[in-house]
Amino acid sequence: MENNSRDGFKSNLGTILALAGSAVGLGNIWRFPYIVGENGGAAFILLYVIIIVLISIPTFMCELSIGRSARSNVSGAFKKLSPKTPWHHIGTLSIISSILIASFYTVIAGWTLAFIYKSIVSEFDGMSGDQVVNTFNSFINNPAEPLFWLGGFLVVTFIIVMLGVSKGIEKFNKILMPMLFLIMIIMVINSFSLDNYKAGFEFMFNPDFSKINLEVFINALGQAFFSMSLGVGTIITYGSYARKQDNLLKLSLATAGTDLFVALMAGMIIFPAVFSFGISAEAGSGLAFVTFPVIFQSMSGGYFFSILFFGLLFIAALTSLISIIEVLVSYFTEEFKLKRKIVTILTCVGIFITSSICSLSLVEDSSLKINGMSLFDLFDHTTASYLLPITGMLGVIYVGWFLKRDFVRKELSSNGIYSTWYFSAFMVLIKYIVPVIISLILFV
Ligand code: TRP
Repeated sequence: MENNSRDGFKSNLGTILALAGSAVGLGNIWRFPYIVGENGGAAFILLYVIIIVLISIPTFMCELSIGRSARSNVSGAFKKLSPKTPWHHIGTLSIISSILIASFYTVIAGWTLAFIYKSIVSEFDGMSGDQVVNTFNSFINNPAEPLFWLGGFLVVTFIIVMLGVSKGIEKFNKILMPMLFLIMIIMVINSFSLDNYKAGFEFMFNPDFSKINLEVFINALGQAFFSMSLGVGTIITYGSYARKQDNLLKLSLATAGTDLFVALMAGMIIFPAVFSFGISAEAGSGLAFVTFPVIFQSMSGGYFFSILFFGLLFIAALTSLISIIEVLVSYFTEEFKLKRKIVTILTCVGIFITSSICSLSLVEDSSLKINGMSLFDLFDHTTASYLLPITGMLGVIYVGWFLKRDFVRKELSSNGIYSTWYFSAFMVLIKYIVPVIISLILFV
């Protein structure tokens, strides 16, 4: 665990793309639209943006600071910065959350692979909205097929994590993130050609404040943590791979901006289609996967775009899942002095088992449900809405109240390279505003 033998990101662009690659994923394209749909649209989005600015960005900066100053995994970082204190249990909580998240995330990631195949064989050709919904339902109700795809997904993930941080993770992100951007822009433009696109945009941008209640607050908070990969140690771990001379403010703003932009684009692709093709905005976790095939039916060049889009979504999911698994792999290799290869194999096998259970819980008459809620939905909602904000808040409190002010300032300035003009405001945010808002939303 000697510092200079640790792998790390080799360039500033590489770091930004790895962070953005972690943040941008199914959270933006699959989760964001379905949560927006279930929580009434524009008012939720407004709240979400406010939470990103006031809570997610400062939390992100705290996690990067912890990681980079300690150069260690999520648990080791706290042991190094505050030896013989209980703070490293933030790491323990993070390990639990990352296992839960990896379990349901892999299920959806597997769907992207299945949909690449379904696009190639034109499975949805000529289908109406209803028929796509039925086909999708029979896909997730078939126990074996999704397991096949999620297993395939894990094999690819395994190979890339094995290659290591700079060779695997960094290289991949550099090429594929910009392509995802481009294809989504084309699809947003295509939205304007749909019959009822106005209703879709209205749903997203014309807020009805009567729709805001506590539930909406909780879900916006959860989505703002999930989408920015916070509260699980991903950003602490990636921070530990960042270079000493990188500007943490810039890394945070670039990641938040990219992440929000992709989520909004996903909404601007999905909701115009939802209102034009009579799909329910409240369709739940299947929303994106029933809407996209319908969009491609109506789009010129749809066959080609469909393969490309699900291909890129697959990559986006891959770079995010890698960032979750990297939390586990770095923890077990550093804390237990095990070989990276063995840990990676065991982690992927473990996640294959837990994600298979999540996938099977979606089958209609499955017994893997609690009060009618599948384990999948339970993991999805309880981790995002409770575990992540609570763990993230503890990390923020740690930086705000327990690290020395000068230490934090020095880290944010990268040892004096950058101005920290925002420092006083930042300290007020992390000492008071972030903990108070999160506590109010979750505990009152
Ligand atoms: N943020 C990713 C997404 O939007 C998912 C993800 C990666 C994540 N690492 C995480 C979510 C850590 C929570 C915590 O798809």
